[in-house]
Amino acid sequence: MQDLDEFTATDAALEQMAATPNKRLKEIADAAVRHMHAFAREVNLTPEEWLFGIQFLTEVGKACTPVRQEFILLSDVLGLSAVVNALHDKKARELGSQSSLLGPFYREGAPEMPLGACIAAHPTAEVITVYGQVTGNDGKPIPNALIQVWQTSEHGLYDLQTHGLDGTDLRANFRTDAQGRYHFRTVRPLGYSIPMDGPVGEMVKAQNRHGFRPSHIHFLIGGEGYRELVTALYFGDDAHIDSDTVFGVSGSLVVSAAQDPNSPVPGLRAVHYDFRLAAAAPGESGRVGADPSKLMAAE
Ligand code: BEZ
Ligand code: FE
Repeated sequence: MQDLDEFTATDAALEQMAATPNKRLKEIADAAVRHMHAFAREVNLTPEEWLFGIQFLTEVGKACTPVRQEFILLSDVLGLSAVVNALHDKKARELGSQSSLLGPFYREGAPEMPLGACIAAHPTAEVITVYGQVTGNDGKPIPNALIQVWQTSEHGLYDLQTHGLDGTDLRANFRTDAQGRYHFRTVRPLGYSIPMDGPVGEMVKAQNRHGFRPSHIHFLIGGEGYRELVTALYFGDDAHIDSDTVFGVSGSLVVSAAQDPNSPVPGLRAVHYDFRLAAAAPGESGRVGADPSKLMAAE
């Protein structure tokens, strides 16, 4: 029988897990145990605080529904999603456009629309054009790439927040043309607060943070033989461009809408952005755009 203290308990747990046949699972679980135990020792965690943490995570789980993924939100506001994205970008064989957060509002199966369509059903604010080209890292156009876009309305809400799963707005799928070009029209999205009415919102408020994301449009772009790109374009004139609650903004993803003689839709202000996809490594699925509602599919 072992006499365990706060240090030898770590060794004992690692020892019991040592025979895990899946090497990667073992690596991850070992590191999780070592870091969690070190964390408890560092803050001298009390039983009350431990229970508070358990209660908090229980509430996070209870807040999850098919249209709300509170655990992804937690990962986002803690900066973990940003770290995972940065690691993923570094693993690419070549440099593509920078990635950004998928967020909890992506859904598969948005309506396919022809190039040039307006993705906002009832725009009540300025309509802009978004256009550009999708190429490989070598600049070679990628025809027939699938571009999935989703965004908030001019009021700062996603369709899922206003209609649940019963209707789509402000999201669509497009295919690039033979030169890899795309364009669509949309209402300029409003920056928004992440959902603050759940346990993650309570935590963000307790940390004296504002909870806002700057105005942005999400993109998930896939082409045969290329790594899927999950990213977003951020409007540089938004007041929260330098303090995104979920750490999704990178300088290379900041855009502005301007009069543009090269825009395919004359008259409207336009955002021009060319996306570069990195080649997929052999054996890499390249698939990163998991639909958050699928996480509830077991119910
Ligand atoms: C989003 O951009 O949709 C989002 C990302 C993280 C948390 C909440 C929303
Ligand atoms: Fe978003």
